[in-house]
Amino acid sequence: MDKLKIAVLGMGYVGLTSGMAFAKHGFKSICTTTTLSKAENLNKGIPPFYEPGLEELVREMVGNGILSGSTDNVDAVRQSDITFICVGTPSLPAGLADLSAIEATASDIGVALKDVDCYHVVVAKSTIPPGTTENLILPTVEKYSGKKAGVDFGLCMNPEFLRQGEAVHDSLNPDRIVIGEYDKRSGDIVEYVYRDYDCPKMRCDIKAAELIKYAANSLLATKISFANEFSRICEKFNVDVYEVMRGVGLDFRINPRFLRAGCGFGGSCFPKDVNAIVALAKSIGVETPLLDSVLYTNELQPMHFVELIKDAVGTLDGKVISFLGLSFKPNTDDTRATRALPIIEKLYEEGARVKAYDPKAMEKFKRLTDLPVEYCENWEEALRGADLAVVQSDWREIRDIKAKDFKRLLNSPIVVDGRRTYDPKSMISEGVKYYGIGWRNLKT
Ligand code: UDX
Repeated sequence: MDKLKIAVLGMGYVGLTSGMAFAKHGFKSICTTTTLSKAENLNKGIPPFYEPGLEELVREMVGNGILSGSTDNVDAVRQSDITFICVGTPSLPAGLADLSAIEATASDIGVALKDVDCYHVVVAKSTIPPGTTENLILPTVEKYSGKKAGVDFGLCMNPEFLRQGEAVHDSLNPDRIVIGEYDKRSGDIVEYVYRDYDCPKMRCDIKAAELIKYAANSLLATKISFANEFSRICEKFNVDVYEVMRGVGLDFRINPRFLRAGCGFGGSCFPKDVNAIVALAKSIGVETPLLDSVLYTNELQPMHFVELIKDAVGTLDGKVISFLGLSFKPNTDDTRATRALPIIEKLYEEGARVKAYDPKAMEKFKRLTDLPVEYCENWEEALRGADLAVVQSDWREIRDIKAKDFKRLLNSPIVVDGRRTYDPKSMISEGVKYYGIGWRNLKT
């Protein structure tokens, strides 16, 4: 099995980092996309998005001839022994996952396998509702190939848990590998691909694997909304929510991660996946009061953040606000479901003006809104002459801004921190008027 070749259909975060990781483990991998320029750029060693450390590795793998890009799904599958489906499953208006790209790739796989004589394993890696692998991918591949699952081709579901901003690390060092298998033969081959990964490997039913991804994302989103709800309770008691969550997280049954209160979760997964499982559950008559509240709390939090900004400056009318961080979190240029958007919209509605800075995400953010946001070259320019600074995404370079910089550049040194970017006590002791989500903001 040493010479197994892998096709990865889809060149987003999951597809490209998976392809890179397979190549890094010695498997010749072809990543496909529908956009010609993305494939051509990949073949020059240039990834289609920013992700720390990815470009260097991609350049190395492409240079070694072990990783390549293509726009031809059928050809990529024909050249391979295993195909990973990594295409997007965006939200439809009602919240359900759009499976049209999954169906299209499954038909390409079927067309490719029609003329192939050897056994091939089809693996779904995209986040897909339970039943999709067996009720959509399997029959589509069978229909277009004329072949039989479990005989001519194998089938698995192998969810991906990587975080953007840490995608290279997470794809090379996953904390677990879940393999939902149609039969033992398929599962054995997928486990072989991961043989060098030093982490627990779990084999299970295909539908369980599909649901594990939704359940994991829903639970992580629940932890965040829980901390956010408590942040509002803590603020009323003038108690620091980070201190409270530290005490909570020390319980080994809970652990401290994902209890960081802030202005809400964004990104391409949590909002989309929690909405999708909620919509799906409701469509089959299952009520989801817990997850409904997780989503509701997440919508409250950016508006609560704007209230906090108002508390800090009285009125927003006519104020110039330095807005730091537009991406949904640091280390990515991704602005999908970023909390920056509802916050900035509300700031303009209240009569404020925004000077924004983000190390990587300004171009993508510009496409989200027509508001007359002033985009700045660097954080110094964003701070200079503004009435206060707010932080929405705590990039390292934003974390490194010092109290003396706020005092030097802002009209008055007021900071409203949406991500607990700074140590409030040291900011306050150095003369900054600090406000933050879940901090002791009450004037006593
Ligand atoms: C998430 C999951 O972590 C990952 O396992 C899955 O594969 C995809 O979805 P990602 O969206 O890249 O990954 O980012 P993550 O680090 O989980 O953060 C998501 C959002 O939650 C961000 O907006 C972040 O700021 C917010 N967050 C995270 C909090 O507000 N508090 C926390 O304690 C953690």
